[in-house]
Amino acid sequence: MQLFMENITKKFGDKDVLKGITLSMENGVYGLLGPNGAGKTTMIRILADILRPTQGRILINGQDKDTCGDEYRAKIGYLPQDMSFYSDFSGRDYLQYAAMLKGMPTAKANERIEALAHNVGLSGDLRRRCVTYSGGMQRRLGIAQALLDDPEILILDEPTAGLDPHERIKFRNIISAYSKDRLVLLSTHIVSDVDSIARQIMMMEYGSINRLGSAGDYIKQIENCVWDMKIPVDRLVAFQNSAVISNVIPSGGMMEVRVIDEKKPSGDAVPAAPNLEDAYLYIFNYLPLQAAV
Ligand SMILES: Nc1ncnc2c1ncn2[C@@H]1O[C@H](COP(=O)(O)OP(=O)(O)OP(=O)(O)O)[C@@H](O)[C@H]1O
Ligand SMILES: [Mg+2]
Repeated sequence: MQLFMENITKKFGDKDVLKGITLSMENGVYGLLGPNGAGKTTMIRILADILRPTQGRILINGQDKDTCGDEYRAKIGYLPQDMSFYSDFSGRDYLQYAAMLKGMPTAKANERIEALAHNVGLSGDLRRRCVTYSGGMQRRLGIAQALLDDPEILILDEPTAGLDPHERIKFRNIISAYSKDRLVLLSTHIVSDVDSIARQIMMMEYGSINRLGSAGDYIKQIENCVWDMKIPVDRLVAFQNSAVISNVIPSGGMMEVRVIDEKKPSGDAVPAAPNLEDAYLYIFNYLPLQAAV
């Protein structure tokens, strides 16, 4: 499976929300990270065929998706960032309705609904109305919906928003197993959702993908730039205006601070092993926009 975006641009009015994105993806997990308003959802909606680009085209295995008719949509499982539910639908109704829209035979749909509800931990809740679900449960119902038809391309917009740590780990394991012979694109604000499972991580800002690389590539970029140091509590607020801080832990009467800096920030700072979250903060707080790594 190869999905290729060629010079995708999107304007809303005179605002350039996507600025000519060219990107090739194959099987595996692709993580999409970036601040609020970067254009992640817009790009995802275009890939999910919900929104038309202003310019550019999408090729699937070399063929323009617009010449594929319904075949393109049939290959895609999509979880939108914002979900809505009919108020009288139970969780099972919602999944059965989604299965019907995907044209799945009833027996196969019911079998798949049971299996997926089990996988996302909703087996005991399928009879309840989904408007009464918690936010995390609704998210898991949406994930089950996206996986229903065993799609070749799975596109998930903030799938883990609202999931508790245990459910996030379960989700990560489901996606990791699923991506062996499938293409999965997921956007998230939680760096740890993708650092261990994504083959490529894209960093998007102002409608462009500025960087693309593995977690290892990003971490290598900030080797020797992460430090642990202690500062007095009353210096913390002033210090955070002049330094990129990725973590703060109270320690005795002091603050233990994790700082990202190319230079040693103080005499007593000790080097720390960098992680992807440090790299994210470094990129979005520090560096001017640059070409992909
Ligand atoms: N239908 C629309 N009409 C006008 N502007 C829009 C529309 N949809 C998105 N935008 C604008 O496009 C920009 C990108 O929005 P988008 O939702 O793609 O960002 P995002 O990266 O998904 O952000 P978040 O992390 O908050 O979900 C924002 O400035 C947003 O206001
Ligand atoms: Mg979004």
